[in-house]
Amino acid sequence: MVKILAFAGSGRKDSVNKKVVAIAAKGAQEAGAEVTIVNLEDFDLPIFNEDLEVEKGMPVEAQNFKELLISHDGFLISSPEYNSSYSSLFKNAIDWASRKTADEAPMAAYRGKVAAIMAASPGGLGGMRVLVVLRMLLENLGTMVLPNQKAVGGAFSKFDSTGNITDEKTEAALKSLGKELVETLTKLKN
Ligand SMILES: Cc1cc2nc3c(=O)[nH]c(=O)nc-3n(C[C@H](O)[C@H](O)[C@H](O)COP(=O)(O)O)c2cc1C
Repeated sequence: MVKILAFAGSGRKDSVNKKVVAIAAKGAQEAGAEVTIVNLEDFDLPIFNEDLEVEKGMPVEAQNFKELLISHDGFLISSPEYNSSYSSLFKNAIDWASRKTADEAPMAAYRGKVAAIMAASPGGLGGMRVLVVLRMLLENLGTMVLPNQKAVGGAFSKFDSTGNITDEKTEAALKSLGKELVETLTKLKN
């Protein structure tokens, strides 16, 4: 069975990116994948610093996050757009997990993986600009990124007060992206 790790680049309690990635995760589950959803803020990671790494090694929580990436075939990622780019929370986690420990292959967390990317913003463009740099980052790390992607604009008005999506078209597009990731990973595995 295809295993997918899903997470948002925001640590905010009411994050629209968390809501968006959960819908894509549902689409992936309905297509037959095993999906693990994690919150990046649950990993208590210090800001990456090579001196700290030399002194103390990789923090247990960073190792835990890296092992999660390694043990899944693909990723569903929804990123907020902060000043046209990804959040420091996201990049810090990515940087920690890029560091080699033990006998694993270099970039074991990223190479040979496939990702589907999304962004959500209250603005009209839906975080379209972060998708450009997010795609570039992941591809440089060795993770293939599906050509299809989804930027959800006006995101605050697309969920009701209980967090459920109210826009059927957006819901269908996100679920379809999750399904497409499962189908691609299934082809690659067989
Ligand atoms: C530091 C900062 C920079 C931001 N820059 C952008 C931006 O460049 N483009 C945009 O559409 N929204 C921007 N926003 C607004 C975010 O899209 C908004 O806070 C969004 O809700 C964050 O995603 P979340 O709900 O998943 O936390 C910015 C917000 C912050 C805090």
